[in-house]
Amino acid sequence: MLGFSKRVKNPQISKDEVEQKLRHIAFIMDGNGRWAKKRGLPRKAGHKYGAENLRRVANRCKELGIKAITVYAFSTENWSRPKDEVDSIMRLLCNFCDEAVRDREKNKIRFVFLGDKAVFDSEMRDKLEKLEEMTADYEHILNIALNYGARDELVHSVNSLIAEGKESVTEQDISSRLYTSHVPDPDLIVRTGGDFRISNFLLWQAAYAELCFTKTLWPDLDEREIDRIVADFLTRDRRYGNVK
Ligand code: FPP
Repeated sequence: MLGFSKRVKNPQISKDEVEQKLRHIAFIMDGNGRWAKKRGLPRKAGHKYGAENLRRVANRCKELGIKAITVYAFSTENWSRPKDEVDSIMRLLCNFCDEAVRDREKNKIRFVFLGDKAVFDSEMRDKLEKLEEMTADYEHILNIALNYGARDELVHSVNSLIAEGKESVTEQDISSRLYTSHVPDPDLIVRTGGDFRISNFLLWQAAYAELCFTKTLWPDLDEREIDRIVADFLTRDRRYGNVK
């Protein structure tokens, strides 16, 4: 299985090497629903454990020396899920933001929300923006893609450039108007849950990303597997279309 994350056993990871080579890791957090079903629990319980696991994963990535993490929390397509499930994810998000504000000095993580916030009511928008502002000076970044779709992001970028009066655009122009303009492109994109697709996530930014797919369901992705994924990434030969 290509890019399967269990090839490296007992990894030794150098923080210096991580800081140089793995500046940005992104996760498609899939498998919460199946995780809950296996335990006879409602899907929303899977999301609750999924949100808790986000804290564990973010802490481990930070310990390893990774400066930027992006997670796909809620896509533009996820609004079509049952209302009860959407509501429970939004409640989790509210609690997540409250805890992040409370623990900001301990965690020292900068939060940035990627996606169009205009769909949220003013109370939720204030919460998201307050968390962004209160953590803006921290070096380690956790981007949370929310009401996010990569095609939508590209359209948004091009429309901003048109509104500025550009008649033709460069790659640099497009990148500079994406929601991720404050971080380098992801070096590694990890998808949990066993599917092999990108699902409208970071399509532009993924041009030279390494990919990793694991069958592990998101709530089960633990520190040991993160370490194996990172160690495996560090063995990859990135040629960017060139020859060695
Ligand atoms: C995919 O699993 C997961 C989601 C669509 C939502 C992700 C949400 C969280 C991790 C929790 C909320 C996040 C924050 C930041 C509070 P799925 O439901 O598609 O799982 P399945 O494929 O097993 O059905």
